[in-house]
Amino acid sequence: MAELKKEQWATRIGVIMAVAGSAVGLGNFLRFPGLAAKYGGGAFMIPYFISLLLIGIPICWCEWTLGRYGGQRGYNSAPGIFRVLTKSGGSIYFGVLAVIVPLVIYMYYVFIESWCLAYAWYYLTGGMPQSVGTDTTPFKQFFADFVGTGDNGLVLGGRLSPAVVFLLVVFVMNFYLIYRGLSKGIETFCKFAMPSLIFFAILVLIRVLTLGTPNPEFPDRNVSNGLGFMWNLKVPEGGSVWTLLNPIHNPEIWLQAAGQIFFSLSVGFGIVMTYASYLRAKDDVVLSGISATATNEFCEVCLGGLITVPAAFIFLGGDAITNVAGSSLGMGFLTLPAVFERMPIGHFFGFIWFFLLFLAAITSSLSMLQPVIAFLEEGFGLARRASVTFLGLLTLIGSFFVVYFSKDLEALDTMDFWIGQVGIFLLGTITVIFFGWVLGIERGFEEAHRGAHIRIPGFFRFIIKYLSPLYLISIFSLFIYQNLVVKATEEGSYVWRALYKHETQITLGFILILIVFFTMLVNLAGKRWREREASAGGGGL
Ligand code: ALA
Repeated sequence: MAELKKEQWATRIGVIMAVAGSAVGLGNFLRFPGLAAKYGGGAFMIPYFISLLLIGIPICWCEWTLGRYGGQRGYNSAPGIFRVLTKSGGSIYFGVLAVIVPLVIYMYYVFIESWCLAYAWYYLTGGMPQSVGTDTTPFKQFFADFVGTGDNGLVLGGRLSPAVVFLLVVFVMNFYLIYRGLSKGIETFCKFAMPSLIFFAILVLIRVLTLGTPNPEFPDRNVSNGLGFMWNLKVPEGGSVWTLLNPIHNPEIWLQAAGQIFFSLSVGFGIVMTYASYLRAKDDVVLSGISATATNEFCEVCLGGLITVPAAFIFLGGDAITNVAGSSLGMGFLTLPAVFERMPIGHFFGFIWFFLLFLAAITSSLSMLQPVIAFLEEGFGLARRASVTFLGLLTLIGSFFVVYFSKDLEALDTMDFWIGQVGIFLLGTITVIFFGWVLGIERGFEEAHRGAHIRIPGFFRFIIKYLSPLYLISIFSLFIYQNLVVKATEEGSYVWRALYKHETQITLGFILILIVFFTMLVNLAGKRWREREASAGGGGL
């Protein structure tokens, strides 16, 4: 028999808040508005909602169900959960990806999270620079100095730089909460952080929607045009909506929409599976899953989608957005500070905004640590103190790697592409196949409905079994074709950088070492599980 699980969620609302906390993050408030503005405004919502229907909601239910299934059989980490789904010992190796994805994403995500806390602090203490007109140069300079984007190692020089101090503070917070445990740490914190950040976001939204026409010199820059800039269909001249949506001519819009759904919902990270493994046998997963998804979509479309781009348009005009559209970091850390500079009582709103981003980010980063902690604990019988210390050191090395290779944020960008995009596509595909084909769609549905408060509409059987894998494989093939074939020889593309750029190669080497290391750990854990079963006599699971 496998080990009995030790931890559990205390309340149903707590687990929904924790999963929603994992989902609602920087992706909702920075990544989504930038992408929507870049890829056709309202037109982006067509592939976005199709991706939500075909991959977001189905994979979320798959992860919730597989997680609870594994948890009932004594496993909380993906290698263990995949193991109980098949008779073959080989399936644990698929779990390596489910440990690597959250681990590597944490390494760079926590750095961005620390910038949010730093900016909130600077707004509170009057440390932000000032600028006039639509000039964003002082903020660009401020950001470049703070993060050290001019050269590698700039913020790791002789003295303790603010970037390092804030990173360490945020690290301590994350690991303190993780150390306190699932219910006392993650659940308690998310129950406070989620309503708080939604409240703060609504405050900022009210501020943005009541701005009117703040600068009479530019009567066009008003709230309604700001919303129009974000949401009107931007059809190319002489073209139609189909010109924008045709996947052969414009695959990017489909890739970006699917990638956003994954990133934003934290599906394909292995996180939801681990979180759901701490449920009780009869706890509902269907309504809880859709509630967490709905919370994420509300924060993304209704809050994220109505704040950043309209606010930037009202104060800086459309060009300022076009220049940074598609770059979450450009929008968040270069453009928005210029917006708060011009907004009445903007410093107060600047503080609220960056603090809410910090809350959104920490509830996500916490969730990235739990799958690895769960694996270390059940794979090697480590106590919480030992697993937290080991993971703390490992992630500290990874994050300082990201901090060191700060020139053009190369390490961050490389990890985000290869793991935050390619990795989650792969893991999402593996998860849906495990549910629909390994557990089997009928057994999967039966399992999902155990204790469920609502029923999953029957047509999702067809979606999960056929459409989701097909859609994922098609999108992933397009993605590979675009990035690894069409753009491969373009200077600056991901493949080009992997072939010719020193920092990219070192980062990829680092990721490879992590993959080999965790494959070895998964192998050892698998042996340990087998031996334990053999000594328990039955070998059954
Ligand atoms: N789901 C998290 C976000 O949107 C990772 O930021």
